[in-house]
Amino acid sequence: HMKGAIFDLDGVIVDTAKYHFLAWRELAKELGFEFTEEHNERLKGVSRVESLRILLDIGGIEASEAEQQRMAQEKNDRYVQFISQLDESELLPGVRQYLTGLRERGVGIALGSASKNAEFILERLHISGLFDAVIDGNKVSKAKPDPEVFLKGCEALGLAPSACVVFEDAAAGVEAGKAAGCSVVGIGRPDILAEADLVVGGLADLVE
Ligand code: G6P
Ligand code: MG
Repeated sequence: HMKGAIFDLDGVIVDTAKYHFLAWRELAKELGFEFTEEHNERLKGVSRVESLRILLDIGGIEASEAEQQRMAQEKNDRYVQFISQLDESELLPGVRQYLTGLRERGVGIALGSASKNAEFILERLHISGLFDAVIDGNKVSKAKPDPEVFLKGCEALGLAPSACVVFEDAAAGVEAGKAAGCSVVGIGRPDILAEADLVVGGLADLVE
């Protein structure tokens, strides 16, 4: 029985995954290699610095600590430019309905995202008020697939992980949710999210 629900942000609540991809691809282009959607799957759910490490690895590029900082900053500047235009029309289908329905049933709702831009995005989408707790990239030190973000989400809701369901579009996030001891609903492709307890195309599929 679900008492708490913890939602990933990018790719579950809002389609910012495409903006992350565009910003990373632009950086890769500058570095002289092509960055594909398939490559991008490895970055989903992963923190900014860790994502950069993976991207540099894919491109076979070595960079100093200072260069890496500059690259991460440049990627984020581009990303922030994209999301500063966000509005409610970019909420994924069924999100507001599904979360509102959960609230009516007394289910606790938390955000569990690696993003340091999460609060800004929730505000732009006018959905901050739907969340009882927000755990984001500023509150965690270990990136998914480490379970930290979801354990903190359960704690903030005052619930045991076994009473909580995690909603995730990333393989690393599904792994993190399972490692926390939560049930996991995968949002997206069953082949990529095979570890999830259930995979659906989007939250709209869960709206009654
Ligand atoms: C989410 C996204 C990742 C992103 C990470 C950090 O988990 O799925 O693609 O790299 O957040 O986001 P940030 O906004 O802090 O760069
Ligand atoms: Mg995601």
